[in-house]
Amino acid sequence: MFPSVSSTLAAYVPLLLLLTNPCLAACTRSDLLAAASKFVTAVSTGTIASLPFSTNFTYRENNKAASITSTAVFSQPLKVDLSRSTADTVACASYTLVISASGPKPYVLATQLRHPDNGNTSVITLVDTIAATTGSLFFNAPKTLGYIRNETWDDLPETQRPTRDLLRKVGDAYLDMWTDRTAADSIPWGTDCERVEGSQYTRPCGAQLPRGGSQRNNGNRRYVIDEVVGSVDVLCSFDALGSLPDSHEIRVEAGKVKYVHTVTV
Ligand SMILES: *[C@@H]1O[C@H](CO)[C@@H](O)[C@H](O)[C@H]1NC(C)=O
Ligand SMILES: *[C@@H]1O[C@H](CO)[C@@H](O)[C@H](O)[C@H]1NC(C)=O
Ligand SMILES: *[C@@H]1O[C@H](CO)[C@@H](O)[C@H](O)[C@H]1NC(C)=O
Repeated sequence: MFPSVSSTLAAYVPLLLLLTNPCLAACTRSDLLAAASKFVTAVSTGTIASLPFSTNFTYRENNKAASITSTAVFSQPLKVDLSRSTADTVACASYTLVISASGPKPYVLATQLRHPDNGNTSVITLVDTIAATTGSLFFNAPKTLGYIRNETWDDLPETQRPTRDLLRKVGDAYLDMWTDRTAADSIPWGTDCERVEGSQYTRPCGAQLPRGGSQRNNGNRRYVIDEVVGSVDVLCSFDALGSLPDSHEIRVEAGKVKYVHTVTV
């Protein structure tokens, strides 16, 4: 039997799209994670200036443009007690959490790296960092480290991976809870889910949620979505409570929220 015309077309269309549109699936997960790993090494050795920045490179710290070579955060080696990275092959971006708890100045850093659309991950076009330190919301780096070190962030089995669309919706619904009273109930909370906000721990994480009340939507959202580990990280301006530089990261396992992390300055 010959395959039908429609099934033959269905088989070839994705391939043709890939061949004719270099923006699609241009970045590989392993290249993105390798670039993120080089970033972590540069942070720990105080050699951030040696990273391969593009000519149009931008550094953003706590939602403001800054100079990466003269910022207080990266101008000295940081003791990296924990780092964990996720990768977004569609956006050609990665997200890395760095916890420096045992050095002279503690930090919890939520950083998104972005690369050119042509998929060349040996070039960095944007370093976008939310840098929490002493004085930031619920800040206590050793305590945060204790909770996050115990979490499991293995790759999910293929049958348990959430779609990109679901991850985006969960990330948005979470940030919408302060302005939209229906948002909290649209999120698939896991029964055994953990929330680490700064160093404040809540389990199950679906307890005590905001249900509207603020007039100001959390804005300027930047996403890193990783279906393989089931995570979405959103950097934003937390405008519902006063334009705070903020990162919200959520992991979804088998369709349910498992972990929530927030880093807020
Ligand atoms: C910077 O240049 C890269 C190509 O090197 C391009 O992909 C990217 O969109 C540019 N970014 C900005 C903000 O212009
Ligand atoms: C990636 O960009 C770097 C720096 O511009 C360049 O040296 C290298 O050849 C590029 N790699 C690819 C595969 O385009
Ligand atoms: C981490 O896990 C260990 C071993 O299960 C446990 O003893 C410890 O209390 C946990 N730490 C936190 C902060 O939950």
